[in-house]
Formats: sequence, C-alpha cells, structure tokens
Amino acid sequence: MSSSQQIHIALPLKYRPMTFDDVVGQEHVTRTLRHAIKSGRIANAYLFIGSRGIGKTTLSRIFAKAINCLNPNGVEPCGECSNCKQIVEGRSLDVVEIDGASHNKVEDVHQIIDAVQFAPTSSKYKIFIVDEVHMLTSAAFNALLKTLEEPPPYVRFIFATTEGDKVLPTIISRCQRFDLRRILTNQIVSRLEYICEKENINVDRDALLAIARGAEGGMRDALSSLDQLISFRGNTITEEDALNVFGLVSRKALEDLARAMLTGDAATILHSVELFDSAGKNMRRLAGELMQHFRNLIVFQALGKNAPELEVTADQADSLEEQAKLCHPSRIFKIADLLAEMDDKLRYVLSVRTLIEMTLLKASRVAKVATIEEVMRAVQALKAGMNVSIETQKVSTPVQPAEVPQKPAPVEVVQKKEAPQAKVVEKKEEAPRRELTAEERRKILDDDKLNNLLNTLPGSKVIDVR
Ligand SMILES: Nc1ncnc2c1ncn2[C@@H]1O[C@H](COP(=O)(O)OP(=O)(O)O)[C@@H](O)[C@H]1O
Ligand SMILES: [Mg+2]
Ligand SMILES: [Zn+2]
Repeated sequence: MSSSQQIHIALPLKYRPMTFDDVVGQEHVTRTLRHAIKSGRIANAYLFIGSRGIGKTTLSRIFAKAINCLNPNGVEPCGECSNCKQIVEGRSLDVVEIDGASHNKVEDVHQIIDAVQFAPTSSKYKIFIVDEVHMLTSAAFNALLKTLEEPPPYVRFIFATTEGDKVLPTIISRCQRFDLRRILTNQIVSRLEYICEKENINVDRDALLAIARGAEGGMRDALSSLDQLISFRGNTITEEDALNVFGLVSRKALEDLARAMLTGDAATILHSVELFDSAGKNMRRLAGELMQHFRNLIVFQALGKNAPELEVTADQADSLEEQAKLCHPSRIFKIADLLAEMDDKLRYVLSVRTLIEMTLLKASRVAKVATIEEVMRAVQALKAGMNVSIETQKVSTPVQPAEVPQKPAPVEVVQKKEAPQAKVVEKKEEAPRRELTAEERRKILDDDKLNNLLNTLPGSKVIDVR
C-alpha cells in the first residue's frame, strides 16, 4: 500500500465540489453567480445564508476561484492554475478566509480594513471570505460598514452565516444576498451513490436513502455519516446499519404503515407502532416522516410522477403510485391535517406513542368511511339525474330547503374489496332523513346507478349503507 492510500481523507473534504456544476441543489445561486461572472458585474459583497453543510464555504471558494482564475473554463474555474490551486489549498495571499466566530471584535475588523489597502499580488481581486459573520459584535459590524460600501475597486467580500437574522440589516443591505436551500433527499441519495461508486462501496439505494433521511437536508452530515458507516462496516453497508444509526424506520415499513392507514387496517397500524416503539425507533421522526410521505402523496396525486417537487427515489415513486390509487385526494388532505395537528401536539404530549396510535387510527377512519356530506351529495347528484363523480364535480342543482334534512341520520358507507352483484331496479332513492329503514337500505344498495356513484367514493366497493 502506498503512503497516499494510508492517509484517510474525510469524505466531506475529499468530495468538496470544485466547480459550480458540481454543487448540488443550489442552482438558484449558481445561476446568478455564473451570470455575474459572465457579464463581469461582480457585486462588492455577497452574503450566503443557510444551515450547516449545504455549500456556503464551498460556493465561496468556487466563486473566489472563478473570479481569480488565470485560465477560466467559461465561467468555471480551471482548477489547475496557480491561483485556483492556492485557493483550494488555503494558501492564496489574495483570498483571505476569516472565521467570524473567533475574530469578531473591532480590532479584528481593523485588521481586515488594513489588509484591504494592499492590492492583490497575483490576481485580479483581493477577496475576504468571512464565515459565521453573524458572530461579529455590532461595533465590529459598524467598523466594517464604510469599507463595505466603498471598497477599493479590487476588493470583494463574501460573507457566510447560518443565522441570517443576526446579521445587521445595514450589512445585509450592502450585500447581494443568497438563501441556500436544504438539499433534497433524492439529490443527496444521487450524490452518495456517485461517491460510493468512486469509493467502491457496496450499498443499496435504501441504505443511502436512510443516510440521506438522517441528514435532513445537510450534505456534509450525509457524507460524515457515510464515512462513519464505512469505518464500522467496511465496504458493504446495509439499510439496517444506516437505520440503526438514526433510529429510523425502514422505507418499506414506513410505506406499509401508510398503506395500512389508507386501507383502514387498524390491526396493522397498532402492530407496527408497537414494533417500532419496542425497537427503539425515534417516534417523533416517524411522525415527521409520515407527514412527509403524505405530503408526497398529495403532490403525486396533483402533479404526477415526474413533478420536481416530489422529493423521492424511484422506489418511493413506485409506492406512491400504488398508494395514490387507494384514496381520494380530499381524504389524503384530511389525513395530512390530522398529522399536522399531531405534529403540534408532539411537543408537549406525555406519551408520544399513544398520540401516534390515536392519530393514525383516526386517519385510517378518514380514509375509509364516507362522510355524510359525500353521501348526501351523491344522492342529490343522482336525483338531479347527473351521472357525475361526486369528488370531481360540484353539484350545481340548488338544494330545495324542504329536502334538506334538519338533522341527517348518520350515514355511513361501508366498503369492502368485493363488489356485490348489481341488480337492476327502476326506482331511485331519496336523500336519507333520519334512520334508514331496512327497506330503504335495500333499495339504495340495489340501485344500480346509485351504486355506481357510491363506488366512485375512495376505497373500493360499497357493500352496505346505513
Ligand atoms: N451543495 C452541495 N453539493 C455538494 N456537496 C456539498 C454541498 N454542500 C455541502 N457539500 C459537502 O459538504 C462539505 C461541507 O460543505 P460546506 O460548503 O463547507 O458547508 P457550509 O454550508 O457549512 O459552509 C463539502 O466539502 C461537500 O463535501
Ligand atoms: Mg462553512
Ligand atoms: Zn484557474
């Protein structure tokens, strides 16, 4: 083994993007920066705001390289010239990186102001990159203001911070501001896949998905976790390994639970929750991920499989496709509401597990049982002789007051997989007023047209009406 192979370089460092093209998930920033370079209109100061490990330092350095590169490749830095190399190695005299957390006093800013007076040695620009700039004291900020507004023509500032709210508005207004995004789970998965291939790591997509889920949008965290798993497990990593690190439920288990909710399968819901809880899974994360799943289901139903808003891998998309057919969007919205309510309560509830159980059971009822309104609308539409799907078309016939029951009897459509044999009868049924008599029930059930209509309710086939 050569000595270079023995030195372990941490993955986040080893795979720091070197060009704008390499940066994942921040296209809104790279597009503007590229344009600035192309048109030669480089602002005096840039401010990158965003949570940790999503590319602030990376973009600062790429931008610094790009505007000081001796031999740029279009708007991309060449990576080969002495300027590019020095910046990457952190020894460029013209690109000064300052840690704002430890250099936050007026005296530190005075040092910057002094350095600003000296023209760059071998580059076009003298660039000051100040990280965690929100840590500067307000005296230090104020000392910087004048220079920021009227720097020498060769000086540029790049500020980065995780806490944009703490940067003085007077500073922000003198900068071009960019808000970096958390990186989508499927984008993290693709990046991990690329890196694993380069590193000869044997790992399936669900394991990478688990790592990405655990990282919650942070690329550095994802790469660090991958690094850790490789050092525990060697070159083969399973989904189980990754799930255990974060206390996450497997993708399949999560999808099975969602399916149980959509099909009203209370036994499976209770059993799964019990299983996850006793396996020490992070129940709050489970709640959050369920919400994410239903969010994706809503997006899927509204926009289809290829919507860019879907933050899913191909396997997840397949299961969304299957589940989208199980339940009508209006019900999925209701389930999402229930989950959102649960999310609020999770913060102060004593038994997380009980809250989750109750909410999921409630959600599974929403998914299954037809509401009174749905049945009423179905019956009214039928009376008006319209052959409509009650979910997709509003009933336009005005309702006669006399026909509106004062207190509608609870009407419940019980649904089951097998359709009853439809029998043809000529009579239509009135809207239910109080209790349905056995006779009335039979008539509704035997009414072919009504039956067809009721069967357009989400779920499957109607077997009873009460
Ligand atoms: N948008 C991104 N695309 C690709 N890799 C990224 C991205 N953001 C972060 N990384 C990875 O995480 C590491 C740390 O990123 P960095 O830019 O230093 O994060 P921060 O936002 O905390 O400054 C990088 O070296 C790189 O490996
Ligand atoms: Mg940084
Ligand atoms: Zn270069």
